Amino acid sequence: MKIWHPFTQEKTADAPLKIIRGEGVYLFDERRKRYLDMISSWWTNLLGHAHGEIAEAIYWQASTLEHLIFAGFTHDPAEQLCQNLSKFLPKTLEYFFFSDDGSTAVEVAIKMAYQYFANLNNENRNIYINLAGGYHGDTLGAMSAAGNHSAYHGTFSEFFFETFSIDFPQSPEDEVAALEKLEKFLKQNSERVCALILEPLVQGAAGMKMYRAEFLDRVVREVRRYGIPTIFDEVMTGFYRTGTMFAMDQCAEKPDIVCLSKGITGGFLPLALTVVSREIYGAFLSDDCKKAFIHGHSYTANPLACAAAIKTMEILQRQEIQQNIRTISEIHRKSLQSLDNVSQKRDRGTIAAFAVESVEKAKAITKNMFQEGIIIRPIGQNIYLLPPYCTTAENLEYVYEKLKQYL
Ligand SMILES: Cc1ncc(COP(=O)(O)O)c(C=O)c1O
Repeated sequence: MKIWHPFTQEKTADAPLKIIRGEGVYLFDERRKRYLDMISSWWTNLLGHAHGEIAEAIYWQASTLEHLIFAGFTHDPAEQLCQNLSKFLPKTLEYFFFSDDGSTAVEVAIKMAYQYFANLNNENRNIYINLAGGYHGDTLGAMSAAGNHSAYHGTFSEFFFETFSIDFPQSPEDEVAALEKLEKFLKQNSERVCALILEPLVQGAAGMKMYRAEFLDRVVREVRRYGIPTIFDEVMTGFYRTGTMFAMDQCAEKPDIVCLSKGITGGFLPLALTVVSREIYGAFLSDDCKKAFIHGHSYTANPLACAAAIKTMEILQRQEIQQNIRTISEIHRKSLQSLDNVSQKRDRGTIAAFAVESVEKAKAITKNMFQEGIIIRPIGQNIYLLPPYCTTAENLEYVYEKLKQYL
């Protein structure tokens, strides 16, 4: 028996580390060595490992109703979660569709955008616009939506549907050029475009690449002039990662569809939501069954995951967590400034990143940090920190001290 691990070259990778326990920001291995989880376990864990209150909420739900088919049935945890979330979402996003992870949230969004036009008998719309370098997941549709600029999915490119990629802007001058190209493309092809999809403000898997809200607003306005729906993939940026509940809270323009997952359950269980506007939802209402959205997964809206999410949303609003989010952001900003021998220092909310001179150096630093009991995972030449919100000032300052040492 051998387990085949994700995103891993099994031939050359070190044996995976066995973790036997988690507590708050810490993970413990078989020898009881303690590690600071500075990547929130693939960006999912918001409030710390084995959080007692979330565990209890899941336990309570498990002994009440563990799962239920979600076609033709509903349950309180799903309804309560959507009600709670709607207090934080733009008023225009009112229809909640459940799935299981970030990739399926995106898959649902791109299928909905396509069928939205098909249901309106507006045919031949099969081009998606994206922001170059973005990442939206590993299913075929999600890979396609990210297009050919993705560093991850080249092997499958012959299966990809057509996309137009907006150049990723490194400067205000780049923004002007990128917008001009977009404008030109839309003038000639808008009738064939089905949606815009992008990660708002921070492209996570691209290496925590950050861009201005003003640029995003201008892109959305341009696309909207042609009646094209916009999809914000907030799978990574959601739930205070960028300092506000959603990255879109820092933008003037709001999307027609938003994808949420990862931190939604505090990192306990897989769950995702694709939330859409009345206009999108309305196009699926018909006496014709074929116009329904024929999509669903066995574990859609799993009550245990919903219970974990309800509890996570409640804890996130507590003053001490909000204060910690601010403290983490402040320490990132201050500490980044003091790092030498790095470039492209950047931060947004609880995310901090910088580049070192080579991929090898990034790997070497990561290895040293690991030996010190600090888990980070570089992306190319980029090193980033994305800690859970229970991380104390002391924890984070220690991590920066060690980073300085190995830089
Ligand atoms: C922005 C974004 N969208 C989608 C996904 C895919 O999510 P999942 O890995 O849960 O399928 C990710 C994962 O990292 C992501 O960062």
